Amino acid sequence: MTEPAPPPRLTIAMRCALPMAHVQLPPGYDVRPLVASDEGALGPLMADAYRGGVEDHGESLDYHREEAHKTLIGGFGAVLWHASWWATRAGLPVGASIVTDWAEHNETGLSFALVHPAARGNGLGAALIADSGHALAAAGHRDWVLAVVPENPAVRLYERLGFRAFDPHGTS
Ligand SMILES: CC(C)(COP(=O)(O)OP(=O)(O)OC[C@H]1O[C@@H](n2cnc3c(N)ncnc32)[C@H](O)[C@@H]1OP(=O)(O)O)[C@@H](O)C(=O)NCCC(=O)NCCS
Repeated sequence: MTEPAPPPRLTIAMRCALPMAHVQLPPGYDVRPLVASDEGALGPLMADAYRGGVEDHGESLDYHREEAHKTLIGGFGAVLWHASWWATRAGLPVGASIVTDWAEHNETGLSFALVHPAARGNGLGAALIADSGHALAAAGHRDWVLAVVPENPAVRLYERLGFRAFDPHGTS
């Protein structure tokens, strides 16, 4: 049975111009394009990445498995497979950046940036996000956007990478 969705949180919208600066992949990690068959590992990675964070409302592993399925079938906009990345260390999944087509907003969005807690703070998240930005730039995109709750420490990372808050309603 589907669990009730967690309560909606206020988010800020951030935009980043492309191309963006190169970020070196830290040693010891392998990165390849995300593929549909990563779904089985994506749910547990989402559960591990969100556990204890500002967006954790106690969701179960099944909830995250459903989120992974929803993501990869286009529930957050069609996945841009050429710009979405999957990172492993010693063959085990440790991170992902997932870009989707936010067609209803006429934007391209970073829907998920995830790094396993055991792999954090090494620059993997920055490298995955920058690789997504490079792939988008190579495909002709001029910018991309994301939405994040302001309490998420990821905001600092996004700012460092060149994302800036903007008013998605265009009133400022
Ligand atoms: C955001 C995230 C992908 C960054 O991965 P990472 O490999 O640690 O990133 P980097 O090593 O390149 O950069 C570290 C930066 O991440 C941010 N950060 C640190 N802890 C974090 C946390 N628990 N959650 C989110 N961001 C964090 C900080 O800006 C940090 O920089 P600082 O040390 O200068 O403050 C990872 O922390 C994560 O998976 N968080 C949980 C999921 C999430 O909230 N994703 C973003 C919204 S979808």
